[in-house]
Formats: sequence, structure tokens, C-alpha cells
Amino acid sequence: MEDDEGDNEILNLEAGKELRVILKDSSNVASVELIDGTGEIFGVEMVKNKIYQFTSSFAVTSFQGCTLKLRGNISRTYTVNPNRDIYDLHLSLEEHRKYADKNGGKGPIVLIAGPTDVGKSTLTRSLLNYATRLGRKPLYIDLDVGQSSISIPGTIGVLPIDEPGDIVKGFNDANSSVYFFGYKSPGLNILLYYLLIKKMGETLDNRLGSSQSVSSSGVIVDTCGWVTGGGYKSIVLAAKSFDVNVLLVLGDKGLYAGLMEDLPNIDIKFIHKLRGVVERSKGVRAERRDNLLHEYFYGSQVPLKPYIFDVKFSDVQIFQVSYPECKVHIDMLQDAHRYISLVPVSVSNYLLNHILALSYADSADDVMLTSVLGFVCVTSVNMDNQTFTVLSPQPSPLPKNLLLMGDIQYKKKNKFKS
Ligand SMILES: Nc1ncnc2c1ncn2[C@@H]1O[C@H](COP(=O)(O)OP(=O)(O)O)[C@@H](O)[C@H]1O
Ligand SMILES: [Mg+2]
Repeated sequence: MEDDEGDNEILNLEAGKELRVILKDSSNVASVELIDGTGEIFGVEMVKNKIYQFTSSFAVTSFQGCTLKLRGNISRTYTVNPNRDIYDLHLSLEEHRKYADKNGGKGPIVLIAGPTDVGKSTLTRSLLNYATRLGRKPLYIDLDVGQSSISIPGTIGVLPIDEPGDIVKGFNDANSSVYFFGYKSPGLNILLYYLLIKKMGETLDNRLGSSQSVSSSGVIVDTCGWVTGGGYKSIVLAAKSFDVNVLLVLGDKGLYAGLMEDLPNIDIKFIHKLRGVVERSKGVRAERRDNLLHEYFYGSQVPLKPYIFDVKFSDVQIFQVSYPECKVHIDMLQDAHRYISLVPVSVSNYLLNHILALSYADSADDVMLTSVLGFVCVTSVNMDNQTFTVLSPQPSPLPKNLLLMGDIQYKKKNKFKS
């Protein structure tokens, strides 16, 4: 199927095969519908006659064979033998969970590391989906601030999963804890990134302790593709802070060797880059970030209508986290307050297009490391009236008045081409 602009294509997928559907770029949408038979996408069983929309490449696997209807801006499709490695990994994690069921304690706390475009997020999603299909309730932690899946770009988060995620959007975000880092790359304030990882680690035991079924189900941690320097240190820190017991290293033997040396007590497995993953250019990644922000305010498959209202400068306090002035070393975590602090932001035109996170904190002292309940985007600043206008998923007034700003920005754009 070459350069098919919007035509339907009916395709039969043989039993035991995987169909890969490669999209042109992220500003295009393709959809797939199961007409007959059975199929699954990244571990989620497809429902007959439901239309699944995608803005990035995907694959349908069928154990019994199926008929699919494809539509949209697809660059090409091809059929391969599916990769059983993910399912085999899932089975080994399931053994670990059964052991925890019997003996108490924690199930697999898995961290997935590797460079960009090796299939970390695909593996994370598939393992979570397979686990929930068996009734497990794993926790999903996403540390990738560039290509976030739990919330908007610039965030990290933890989310309990108890049913297979909607194939396209990822997971339902009720009950999540989201922290606002504020930048699209951890390196833009690495000390803050370390601090947030440490903070998440401190709250993880409480979440896991909520019931034996959550504790046995364990955790899957997805990470960003920066695996050298501070990126490498953040992987080691996360492994220690979350008490990781299974570390999966994708597609990078050097990283594997380094982690084997630095984390001798963890079961570390090397996995080849997943077959079928599609490399994404910087532009495609940036576009996905914009799309995620657009979806936060305007919805994706179900359109949302955001509220637009004015906020008085005097009703809120806006903060930003400072950068350390010296070169950051991981040991600085011990007394981080000496190097990094919360700085008030005065209202000016600089705020325009910036995302502001609404902190759950009740005191300014806690804003840096407290989770956030949502986001607004500044669409205009009126210095004469001492107000600014925001785009918000909820109506006025703002439910919280301590706001955190980073460098994540959003400007309304036209919806995707289709
Ligand atoms: N089997 C597959 N067929 C088609 N596309 C795939 C397949 N596996 C992964 N992809 C796509 O490849 C891209 C990169 O994979 P991803 O898991 O996000 O990599 P990483 O998290 O390591 O950067 C994603 O857009 C994903 O949807
Ligand atoms: Mg990823």
C-alpha cells in the first residue's frame, strides 16, 4: 500500500502473523478496524468494529487470523512472523508474581533502559497490557520527560493500571501522580530530575503496600533514551530508589556492561532492539509533544472544549525551579537545597504560551517536589488589568493557586491532517 491518502484497504492477516503499519509522519492519522477474527495491538485485544486511530506506526498480531480495514496516511504495510520475546518476558515476570503471591513481598520491579527508538515504550506497554489481561494491577512509572505517556511532555509520573490501556491513547490517567519537571530533556535541570526520581521512590513503597495484589503485580518503569552522563546516573538512581529487581537493557551492550558493574545485585537482561520499531526524527518527536499538549486541552478521538478565562496576578503565585550554578554531581542530592531553589516568577509577557502546572502543595516550600493536579496554558497577558488569560480543561476559578512553570510551551495549531 503506497501513498494511500485516505482510501479504505481491506487486508487479511494470516494466523500467527504480525502486520506492521508504518505511518508517514506524526502529523498524519491512520486507523484500523477489526472486521473479523481476532487481533491485538501492543498486548491489547482488539474489539470488533471499533476504529482505532494512530499517529505513530503500530503492529497488529493475530493468533487465529483476521480481516482488518485500514485507512489513512500510511506509508507502507508488511507482514512478518511475530516476535515472541515480549510474551516470553511477560511469562517470566508472571512467575515472579506468582512467587510473591505465595510468599508475600514484592513482585517484579522492572526498569527498562536503552537508547531512543529501541522499543522501550512498546515493551513497557505490552508487558503492562499482558499483566492486566491476567487480572494483575501493575504500577506504571514513566520517567521519559521528552516522550511522556502518562501526562503532557515535561512530566514524569506513576499510574496504577488495572485494565488494558486504550490502544491509542495509552492509559487512563485517573489515580496517577504526576510531577512537573518542566523541560523536554532531563539534562536541562538534571539535579531537579534526580530529586523527582528520589521523591517518587520514597512514595513507591506506600503505593505497593496498598494491597498484596498490587505488591505482587509489581512495577514497570519506562525511561528516556539518554543513557550517558547524567542520563546514565538517573537510570542507576531510579534502579536504587525504586528497589528495582529486574533491569531490561535494550539494544546497547555498553550500557548493559556498565549497569552490570554498577548494579551487581540486580537481575539484568540484555534484549536486542525490538524488531519493527520505527526511528523517529527530532521533528517527529517535537510534533508528538505538540500533539500531546493539543490533546490535553482539545481531546483526541473525543473532542474536548477547553475553558478560557482570566486570572488575576494577585490570585496566584507562580514559581520556577532555579538551575544550579555549578556543574551537577549526583552527590549534590544529599544537600540539594544548597544548589537549587524555588524562585517566584513575576508576571510579564514572558509567560505567554507557557504551561503552568497546578501544584497540590499548600505551601510554597513544597511546590518543587509535590505532584500536580493539572495544567493551564497562558494565552495572553494583560499588564494594564494585571490579569492573564488561560486555556484550562476545567472552568474558572483555578482549583489551586500555587503554580509551577518550566519551559514547556503550547500554541494552538490546526488538527492533524488525515
Ligand atoms: N512492531 C512494530 N511495528 C510498527 N511500529 C512499531 C512496532 N514496534 C514499535 N513501533 C513504533 O516504533 C516507534 C518507536 O518505538 P518506542 O517503543 O516508542 O521506542 P523507544 O521508547 O525506545 O524510544 C513507536 O512509534 C512505536 O509505535
Ligand atoms: Mg519511549
